Amino acid sequence: MSGFTLRNDRAANNAALFFKRWLANPLQMGSIIPSSATFCRLIAERAERAEDEVVVELGAGTGVITRALLAAGVPAEKLLVVEIVPEMAEHLRQSLPGVQVVCGDGFELPEVLRAAGNPKVGDVVCGIPLVMLPKDAQARIVGAMLAASPKRGFLHLSYCITSPLPKARLGLKGGRLAYTFMNFPPGGVWRYAPAG
Ligand SMILES: C[S@@+](CC[C@H](N)C(=O)[O-])C[C@H]1O[C@@H](n2cnc3c(N)ncnc32)[C@H](O)[C@@H]1O
Repeated sequence: MSGFTLRNDRAANNAALFFKRWLANPLQMGSIIPSSATFCRLIAERAERAEDEVVVELGAGTGVITRALLAAGVPAEKLLVVEIVPEMAEHLRQSLPGVQVVCGDGFELPEVLRAAGNPKVGDVVCGIPLVMLPKDAQARIVGAMLAASPKRGFLHLSYCITSPLPKARLGLKGGRLAYTFMNFPPGGVWRYAPAG
């Protein structure tokens, strides 16, 4: 089978799994299809880490951003991805050899990191649809991400035109780094860090 056919098969399988999960829980998924290659590349190019740090990805879904991070040069063993849906976590394990996949809740990131041996963390990339969360839940998950990466903060992908997070209320600074129409729906890459 050619590489082209394999890539197309994977894209079709990813889309089918994603859509199935969207039907089951639309708020948890936040989108009906995985992020586009262009959007994933925009995010991956902006993820930072020192050589001894891991990039943490929350809400990896079918792994499209994870693959873009690998393509951007992050070694598989320096990627720790967290996905709450067991079927998707299993799909990630099967399709991303060498990447540490945790089936867990992004809200429990400190516990996830403890269980993983407290690796040094570079950027956290958050694919969980934060704008859909109640305010107190936004505050909790932002706290969990900042505890993991207090200086750098985190990257977030969002379809919002304005900030998907209330910066003043959450004590954050930051803004949109990139935007693309080559995604359904069009989306932006945001970076947030503590304001103080
Ligand atoms: C918008 S999709 C993004 C998937 C993928 N990163 C992409 O860009 O195509 C959101 C993903 O976050 C996962 N998710 C939602 N809430 C989560 C949580 N609390 N902890 C971990 N993953 C979560 C969903 O299961 C889903 O796979």
